[in-house]
Formats: sequence, C-alpha cells, structure tokens
Amino acid sequence: MMPAAVPAFPAIREVAFGSSDYQRIVAFREKWLRKPMGQVFTPEQLAPDADSVHYFCEEAEEIVGCVLLRQESLTLVRLRQLAVHPEWRGRGLGAHLTRHFEHEARARGGTDAILSARDYAISFYEKLGYAVEGEGYLSVGIPHHTMVKRL
Ligand SMILES: CC(C)(COP(=O)(O)OP(=O)(O)OC[C@H]1O[C@@H](n2cnc3c(N)ncnc32)[C@H](O)[C@@H]1OP(=O)(O)O)[C@@H](O)C(=O)NCCC(=O)NCCS
Repeated sequence: MMPAAVPAFPAIREVAFGSSDYQRIVAFREKWLRKPMGQVFTPEQLAPDADSVHYFCEEAEEIVGCVLLRQESLTLVRLRQLAVHPEWRGRGLGAHLTRHFEHEARARGGTDAILSARDYAISFYEKLGYAVEGEGYLSVGIPHHTMVKRL
C-alpha cells in the first residue's frame, strides 16, 4: 500500500530578535498583517518582539510564513503574528506553523496556549483545537476574540 502523501513544507527556522532575518520577518508581518488595513506597526506593537521567539520559513529566499511565541508565565504561552503568504494559503502551512508553535511551547514547559484571533480566522483555530474565551473586542480596528487551548 502506498504511504499517505505528506505535504512538503520549507523548514521552519528560529531567528534572534534584532537579527537581519528578524527585520525581514517584521517586513513580512507588516505587509500581510498591517498594510491590508492601511496600517504600519507602532513601536508599542513591536515592543513584545524583544521577548518573543521568532519562527519563519522561506522558499527561494522569500518568506512564506511566520509565527511568534511569547512565554507569558511558566505555563502560559502566547501564539503571536501567525501569517502565511497569500500564494501559500490553503495548503496546510498555517496549521503546520501552529503545530510547530505548540511543540515548542510544550518543550518550554507550556501547558496552555492563548492567542488573539481575528474573527475571520476563528474557524481556522477551532480546527486546531482552540476555543473562544470571553467577549469579542476590537484590536487594530478589527473584531477579535481570545482563544485558548490546553496543550
Ligand atoms: C489564517 C492563515 C494563517 C491560515 O493559514 P493557511 O495556511 O491558509 O491555513 P491552512 O491551509 O493550514 O488551513 C488549515 C485548515 O483551516 C482552514 N482555514 C484556513 N483559513 C481559514 C479561515 N480563514 N476560515 C476558516 N477556515 C480556514 C483550511 O481550509 C484548512 O481546513 P482543513 O484542515 O479542513 O483542510 C492565513 O490565511 C493568513 O495568513 N491570513 C492572513 C493573516 C492572518 O489573518 N493571520 C491570523 C491572524 S489571527
């Protein structure tokens, strides 16, 4: 019997805050998470980057996806800034990056994950086991909900 096909994704790499790859990731995040709403990053929005872990993957030297991890306490770990290049969406890369985040969160002692989901992405996170917690709110001008998952 043929083994089930496993989608091939570019390797996910961790880069240091402040490095040249970090600057490339910020540009990627700004392009796909801020500019579609006519916004750019404020210094306050970038402040949590200093104590976040930065993951990305690229193909042909172009970034195709990223996700950040921020430890909020010994056991609570926040997923931040998940984004996939439009040409790569719908091919499983967002789920792959989320699972990578969860693997790294567990390795750091995390037992619970938390994130701030744009409402249009809630079903994406629900498929990965996250649940909405509490009332919705506006962030960067668009509706969001907090979502959580026991790791
Ligand atoms: C949201 C995002 C990260 C999803 O990444 P992706 O690579 O397209 O998602 P995947 O291909 O891994 O999808 C996994 C599953 O979720 C589903 N899904 C993906 N995006 C979805 C959405 N917006 N709404 C509902 N379901 C969605 C897929 O159909 C797939 O379902 P399946 O497992 O039944 O086939 C990507 O669309 C993106 O970067 N969007 C712009 C930035 C953004 O909104 N980031 C999240 C901020 S909270």
